[in-house]
Amino acid sequence: MFAERFKNRLMLQQQAGLYREPPEVKTRDGKYLSIEGRRVLNFASNDYLGLGVSEELRRRAAGNFEKYGTSSSSSRLVSGNYSIINEAEKVYASYFGYSNAIFFPSGYQANLGILSTLLERGDTVIFDKHVHASSVKGMMMSGANFLGYNHNSMPHLEKRLKMCTSEQVAVLTESLFSMDGNLLDVAGLGKLKEHCRFLTIADEAHAFGAIGSGGRGIAGSVADIAVGTFGKAFGFFGAFVLLPAGFKEYLFNFSSPLIYTTTLPEAHAATAIDILEIIARSEDKRKRLRDASQSLKKGLLLEGFRVTGDAHILALEIGDETKAVNMARMLLRRNIFVLPARYPTVPLHKSILRIGVTALHEEEDIASFIDHVREASGELK
Ligand SMILES: Cc1ncc(COP(=O)(O)O)c(C=O)c1O
Repeated sequence: MFAERFKNRLMLQQQAGLYREPPEVKTRDGKYLSIEGRRVLNFASNDYLGLGVSEELRRRAAGNFEKYGTSSSSSRLVSGNYSIINEAEKVYASYFGYSNAIFFPSGYQANLGILSTLLERGDTVIFDKHVHASSVKGMMMSGANFLGYNHNSMPHLEKRLKMCTSEQVAVLTESLFSMDGNLLDVAGLGKLKEHCRFLTIADEAHAFGAIGSGGRGIAGSVADIAVGTFGKAFGFFGAFVLLPAGFKEYLFNFSSPLIYTTTLPEAHAATAIDILEIIARSEDKRKRLRDASQSLKKGLLLEGFRVTGDAHILALEIGDETKAVNMARMLLRRNIFVLPARYPTVPLHKSILRIGVTALHEEEDIASFIDHVREASGELK
């Protein structure tokens, strides 16, 4: 029966080095976590600007929950369409330069919500093979035909576009890829857009807030639709989608993951407005993030490691799944927390340590990380 099947599957996961068992985090204190009774330096966070531990944001969010209460208690399509949510969406659309914005309870749900609704049978979606699991799921739910192109390869995307006979074509990509840390070839995509008609959907989950002018990400010139999450550089939770005119009404009418879910509370929207004001004046944090990321990549390369990543997400290439897990374990013993990313998050036998740099990291943290990686890697050999 079910229990037997689950037991067998889990056993196979273990044998393949793919078993997932997240360590329990007792508390968080800035760049440190308390794990297994020890204080460890956190290099596995997406809180790129450190807003998730900012006193100012904590105070403002608490004030908003005090003022507005805790729950919207209904879907947007029932009694949850509050003025402050509409106002916040207008503020986001205007800041990022789009006609409209719409909030979702999470980035995962946002990708399901837009892709499964805007695309349908007969359409074609051409996607970068490294897009997030939520985008893959959304595409599959839509019923559209899908064609993958090699990661960030504009020549391959061009070939795919030439093969495509559908009237309605969408291209799906990320702007800062969540695992490899590569930046999208915005200029290359822009050139293709001059010659072919397609709708571009760019997931800027890891870019918004952290890179680009005023934290506006990098794909604004090519993305017709952009997805952002509050759960990363915004230090909060939930997500926003930036849209051209006419699309928001369509989602309100046809997007099941939006229609049949309780909307985020008013306090969330009020806090989202506060966060955008903080993001706009966080240039110093973005600079610190850039400097720390460059310094870490340079240091690891100098030590002879293979590292990819153009910004604050760095991928230290390991390969073998068990080796990646062991390396992360050894680093944890040395009070460094970094997670191994394994199949199916990355291709089989291409495991990495996925490093999340943040503006909270100082030069001594970077130096310490490199020292420990060098020593742990030496011991593993
Ligand atoms: C590229 C990308 N898109 C979407 C998501 C989902 O966002 P959320 O955590 O808000 O559900 C993630 C989160 O890991 C992501 O990396």
